[in-house]
Amino acid sequence: MRAVVTGAAGFVGSNLCDALLARDWSVIGIDRFSDYYAEPIKRANLADAIANPSFELREVDLCAAGLEHVVDDVDVIFHQAAQAGVRASWGSDFATYQHDNIAATQILLEAVANSVRRPRVVYASSSSVYGNAEHYPTTEADLPKPHSPYGVTKLAAEHLCRLYGSNLGVHTVSLRYFTVYGPRQRPDMAFHRLSEAVLGGPAFPLFGDGSQIRDFTFVSDIVAANIAAAAADVEPGSCFNIAGGGHTSMREAIDLVGSLAGSEVPILAKDAQIGDVHRTGGSTELAQSMLGWQPVVGLEEGLRQQLAHHRLARCAHEEPMGSSEVA
Ligand SMILES: NC(=O)c1ccc[n+]([C@@H]2O[C@H](COP(=O)([O-])OP(=O)(O)OC[C@H]3O[C@@H](n4cnc5c(N)ncnc54)[C@H](O)[C@@H]3O)[C@@H](O)[C@H]2O)c1
Repeated sequence: MRAVVTGAAGFVGSNLCDALLARDWSVIGIDRFSDYYAEPIKRANLADAIANPSFELREVDLCAAGLEHVVDDVDVIFHQAAQAGVRASWGSDFATYQHDNIAATQILLEAVANSVRRPRVVYASSSSVYGNAEHYPTTEADLPKPHSPYGVTKLAAEHLCRLYGSNLGVHTVSLRYFTVYGPRQRPDMAFHRLSEAVLGGPAFPLFGDGSQIRDFTFVSDIVAANIAAAAADVEPGSCFNIAGGGHTSMREAIDLVGSLAGSEVPILAKDAQIGDVHRTGGSTELAQSMLGWQPVVGLEEGLRQQLAHHRLARCAHEEPMGSSEVA
C-alpha cells in the first residue's frame, strides 16, 4: 500500500508514518514545517522515518504544492496537516488557521477529485467541533457548535470533506480526535508541559481551577483508527469520534503524573482561557461498529509511556520544551 501523510513531521503525523512503515507501506510525507513550535523537534520526530528507504519527505505547503502527481500515485491520504491549538486561534493569527486548515484541505480535495486514482482521504478532525456539548458522551448525531475559531476551521474542513464526498464521489472519512497524548506530543499541550514540569522543567501553567474535564486518547489508538478508517466499508463523508473513553479533570491528571513520576508537579496558576471548553467526552459506539475500532491504551499506561519519552529526551540533552492546550 502507498500513502501520503500530510503534517508528517508533527506529533500525530510522525507517529502514523512510523506505524505505516512498520507495516511495510510506502509513505510520502508532506509538511511545511510551520513555526508553531521548533523545527528541530519536528526533524527529530521524523528521524526514524527518514532512515527508512520506503519514506520520502516533501517539504512543501499543501497550498503551494502541485499535488496532482502525488495523489495519483497513492492509495490513501492521511490528512493530518493543520494549524493546531485552541488558544492561539483568536486575533490576526486566525489567517494561519484559515490557510492551513480550510484552504489546504480544499486544495487537497480538489487534487483528489481531479485525479484518476482517487485515493481515499482520512481527515484528522477534532472534538473541538462540538464546543460545549449538550450532553456526554457526545455522539456524532449531536449538533457541532465550536467554541473557538480553531474549532470553526476544523468543522469547515470536515464539511468540505463531506461535500466533496456527496457531490463529487471523493471517498472521505473524518475522525474527530479527542485530546491526543503520548510520545512526541506538541510542546503546547498539557501532558507535555506536565511531564517536563515534574522532571525538573518550568512549572506547569494551570489555566483556571483545574476542574475542566477531558477525554484523553493515546496516540497509538489514534494511529490504529486511521488505519482502520483507510480500509473500512463506510459511506463517503462519514465522521467518527475517536476518544479514549475516560473523563479526567486537569487536577486528577496533575495528581496522576505526580504519582507516576514520584514527585509533586510544580504549578503556576493562570486565568482560565477563552475558547477552552469545560468538558469533552465522546461516545465511540459508532467507531466500534463501523470501523471495528476501540481504544486499548488506558490513561495510566499511556502517561507512563509519555513520561518515559520525556525522560529519554532530557537524557539526550534536548532542550526542555515549551501554554498547555488541553484540546
Ligand atoms: N493533538 C491533538 O490533541 C489533536 C486533537 C484533535 C485534533 N487534532 C488534529 O490532528 C492533526 C495533527 O495534530 P498534531 O497535534 O500532530 O499537530 P502538529 O502541529 O504537531 O502537526 C501538524 C503538522 O502540519 C504541518 N502543516 C500545517 N499546515 C500545513 C500546510 N499548509 N502544508 C503542509 N504542512 C502543514 C505543520 O508543519 C505540522 O508539522 C491536526 O489536524 C489537528 O487539528 C489533534
